[in-house]
Amino acid sequence: MTELLSSHQLDHFRTKASAIDHPHELIVDLLRAIQSHYGWVPDAGIELAATTLGVLPVEVEEVATFYDKIFRQPVGKHVIHVCDSICCWSTGGEEIAAHLQQVLGLDFGETTTDGLFTLLPTCCLGACGEAPAMMVGLTTYGPLTRERVDQILAELRAEESR
Ligand code: FES
Repeated sequence: MTELLSSHQLDHFRTKASAIDHPHELIVDLLRAIQSHYGWVPDAGIELAATTLGVLPVEVEEVATFYDKIFRQPVGKHVIHVCDSICCWSTGGEEIAAHLQQVLGLDFGETTTDGLFTLLPTCCLGACGEAPAMMVGLTTYGPLTRERVDQILAELRAEESR
């Protein structure tokens, strides 16, 4: 099994946690580090975060389930978050979501069989001026059209074959 976090990163978080009054503040950063290293956050990641920071596992779990960009189950290499909030909805977001579902052959919450894409709905990405919008990894895309979506997916697939 791939380790959840490198020993160097664990040391980093232990040192930081011991130097501050409220190690809870580090929960999100630690979960993100585990996710970045491991791909998602399994139960063992919750336990590891709790013991590393000296907090209760339930406190870590609360944070993990609050943020929709912390993944508690395996996801594809590229997680596509499609905004379904008002600005995107009113500028064709539903059509973009339907197009993504069709071309990827997925419902929301599913991952392509090649493990490349997971499709998830999300609330406002803070890119209302570029609605309809979606986020893939740390990159926000918009305003989207079906053609632009196809182009983005093709670019991401092309990256894989390099
Ligand atoms: Fe979609 Fe704000 S409503 S980015």
